[in-house]
Amino acid sequence: MLPKWFDKWNRENPTDIFGPAILVGALGGAVFVAILLVTWGQPFATNSMQTGPRGTGMSVPEFSAALAKPDPTIENYFTAEPFVPEGGEALAKDVYQNVQVLGELTEDNFNRLMNAMTQWVAPDQGCAYCHGDGDLETYGSDDLYTKVVSRRMIQMTQTINDGWAGHVNANKEVGVNCYTCHRGENVPSEIWFKIGPVNQAAAGWSAIQNRATMISQSTSLPSDALEKYLLDGEQIVVHDLESRVAGGPASDDNPLPSIQNTERTYSLMNYFSNSLGVNCVFCHNSRAFYAAAGEVTPQWSTAGLGILMVQELNNDYLVPLRDVYPAERLGPVFADAPKVACKTCHKAYQQPMQGLNVIADWPELASSEPPVYE
Ligand code: HEC
Ligand code: HEC
Ligand code: HEC
Ligand code: HEC
Repeated sequence: MLPKWFDKWNRENPTDIFGPAILVGALGGAVFVAILLVTWGQPFATNSMQTGPRGTGMSVPEFSAALAKPDPTIENYFTAEPFVPEGGEALAKDVYQNVQVLGELTEDNFNRLMNAMTQWVAPDQGCAYCHGDGDLETYGSDDLYTKVVSRRMIQMTQTINDGWAGHVNANKEVGVNCYTCHRGENVPSEIWFKIGPVNQAAAGWSAIQNRATMISQSTSLPSDALEKYLLDGEQIVVHDLESRVAGGPASDDNPLPSIQNTERTYSLMNYFSNSLGVNCVFCHNSRAFYAAAGEVTPQWSTAGLGILMVQELNNDYLVPLRDVYPAERLGPVFADAPKVACKTCHKAYQQPMQGLNVIADWPELASSEPPVYE
């Protein structure tokens, strides 16, 4: 096929073509990838949120692609505008038999809220989840535990929005309703129970440490941080500027925070970071992790209120419901009531539902005072 002189020249000048071929291939590949990157954009581009002065590590970098992806549960969020009363409407407490918390709502708004609670907490079971299969006449009965729990949940939600606005409306009005925790599920995700030593014979620190549990974020750090800090209210702070050498291990006569206390604090801090999908400098100054005037970020203060809020929700609302739940809802080790913490609302986002305002349409849940409609 090829001219004779070429075959002859070729035979007399043997050349290794693999080297040049690989070079051409590699160059071609690089050009191809470069063209793809230019036309499609950089898949690993990051965006960073700056929380302090430049050059001090005070930034929270994230992949732009992850930032652009919305929280998938927002799509199924149900809401409905309130019926603004014109005066003279019948109130729920006059129309129905057993309305203890929502009595001041007009009948229309009461039913609007019942419908929404169904969408937020029991979309598959419907009204029957809290009211059973009987007809509307039987809805005044408190036979089902789900209804009794819900009544307390309504009061808890009102307390969160009313009493803890400094947290849940820290930047702008966001607030909390049933969907913030439940997201269409009967039992919210990211609830927690007490966790005990590995076995009866084990006790003390070692028994609660070095275990890959959900609460230790699968690290070797202690698994009882949520219980000690967000239920029992123990001291989180471990830092001072004194030498640890003289202090020695903490004991009853020497109540200094020990290295083990520090590990438990780190366990909680890991949990905080994972709950919000941020790193430590979202709240702390990289040069001074202890709280000192002028060192902390506004987020640190919001988080501080969050700690107090969670303690109140657990101790005043959730723990006392223990005897209302059926046995299968209680904790696997200590049969304790299900409890909340940061991730129950935040679900790994900086702000729950990415800052969507969930109380604008629900003045009934925003305050324990009779609702004001506008
Ligand atoms: C997640 C639980 C829950 C779901 C689901 C639910 N309700 Fe309720 N319902 C309650 C609670 C709690 C009360 C009592 C409120 C109070 O005491 O202020 C109540 C009370 C009522 C009452 C007043 C009954 C009376 O005579 O005292 C009616 C009517 C009612 N609901 C209708 C409905 C309808 C209709 C649906 C479905 C669209 C529904 N509810 C779904 C929890 C629920
Ligand atoms: C701060 C988070 C949070 C909010 C807000 C919240 N709940 Fe809950 N809810 C919980 C936790 C935690 C439980 C206990 C989980 C369990 O039952 O195992 C729970 C349980 C329930 C249950 C019992 C479910 C079952 O099958 O055991 C019902 C019903 C319920 N909530 C209704 C509501 C309603 C209605 C609202 C809004 C008025 C609401 N919740 C708001 C955290 C929340
Ligand atoms: C969402 C905000 C937030 C995040 C994220 C966070 N922290 Fe904290 N941290 C706090 C708050 C608030 C306190 C103070 C608690 C108190 O005073 O009760 C604290 C306390 C501490 C303390 C004790 C300080 C002292 O004075 O003894 C240390 C150490 C600490 N955090 C380390 C970390 C580390 C390490 C990370 C990252 C893994 C982290 N934190 C992530 C909010 C946060
Ligand atoms: C009852 C639900 C709920 C719980 C529980 C909760 N938060 Fe929040 N948190 C919110 C809401 C809602 C916002 C949004 C406020 C805003 O941006 O205006 C928020 C905002 C924050 C912010 C400020 C974010 C920003 O962008 O400035 C921090 C920090 C924070 N939470 C930390 C925590 C920590 C730490 C815990 C656990 C100790 C916690 N939260 C528990 C509902 C909750």
